[in-house]
Amino acid sequence: MRILIPLLLFLSPVYGYPLRFTFCNETKTWKDAQAFCREHHTDLVTIRNEKENNIFSGEGWIGLYRIPMSRKWQWSRGDEIANYTNWDAGEPQQHKHLAYKDNEKWKAHDYTDTHPFMCYDDDDDNDLILVKDNKTWEEALEHCRSLDGVNTEDPLSSYWNYRYDLATLISPYDHTYARERAQEATTDEVWTGLCNLADQWLWVSGEQMEYENIPSCPTNGFCGVLQKNGTASFSIRDCQLRRNFFCKKRL
Ligand SMILES: *[C@@H]1O[C@H](CO)[C@@H](O)[C@H](O)[C@H]1NC(C)=O
Ligand SMILES: *[C@@H]1O[C@H](CO)[C@@H](O)[C@H](O)[C@H]1NC(C)=O
Ligand SMILES: *[C@@H]1O[C@H](CO)[C@@H](O)[C@H](O)[C@H]1NC(C)=O
Ligand SMILES: *[C@@H]1O[C@H](CO)[C@@H](O)[C@H](O)[C@H]1NC(C)=O
Repeated sequence: MRILIPLLLFLSPVYGYPLRFTFCNETKTWKDAQAFCREHHTDLVTIRNEKENNIFSGEGWIGLYRIPMSRKWQWSRGDEIANYTNWDAGEPQQHKHLAYKDNEKWKAHDYTDTHPFMCYDDDDDNDLILVKDNKTWEEALEHCRSLDGVNTEDPLSSYWNYRYDLATLISPYDHTYARERAQEATTDEVWTGLCNLADQWLWVSGEQMEYENIPSCPTNGFCGVLQKNGTASFSIRDCQLRRNFFCKKRL
């Protein structure tokens, strides 16, 4: 685990974001726009940070909604709870439940309003890679980071270059999708990028830990697996065990 310490100190959150967006200049209600995106693309767009917000400079429906009476705003894709938002002044109005992006700023609109909208396409095939090889967690980490030909002899300097990492699985969608993919594994459990360092659970890629149903943190030297058949989000195992593993593209 020692090699990880310098790496973790330099990490800042990195979110994967979709590669392909489609602006649909045809006005629809949010529900119809969602149905259209789900049929022809992946879903209405999810916007997780300022950088992504700037990518779509136009105006239109985005995937953000809330269930009436709920205070939580969620993304259409995987019902991920929104962390980043960029509401305009005075927004969101209480009785409106769907998000419309007006250039940078977001406004809440109604079910009956019609607007153009933005869909995106997930690049699932390249995103999550199941490696059917049995490695310890650290060997798995090294394997992922060496994908795409980056030199890992000096992990600290190559940190800035590598394109894959042990997988961070944050949203319920990531999680469901990973469980499906895990069915093809040759081991009953698959390593993820979750590890325990100084009694804290961390994603090795630096993302915030958002699942709460992890058993309480054991001592160091434990890492997180996804079980093929389990119901818990993750289970805790000795990092020295050999398992198949998931690599995921960073973006
Ligand atoms: C969308 O369509 C309207 C009306 O046809 C047009 O005025 C507008 O420029 C279009 N917007 C984009 C971004 O293509
Ligand atoms: C996302 O949530 C975490 C804590 O859960 C917080 O530290 C972080 O600032 C949030 N990010 C944004 C962009 O709101
Ligand atoms: C990995 O372990 C599983 C279960 O023990 C075994 O069936 C599989 O053949 C192993 N794979 C390799 C590549 O050694
Ligand atoms: C997982 O579930 C499948 C099908 O439901 C079953 O055949 C298999 O034995 C289970 N494996 C474990 C480790 O429980």
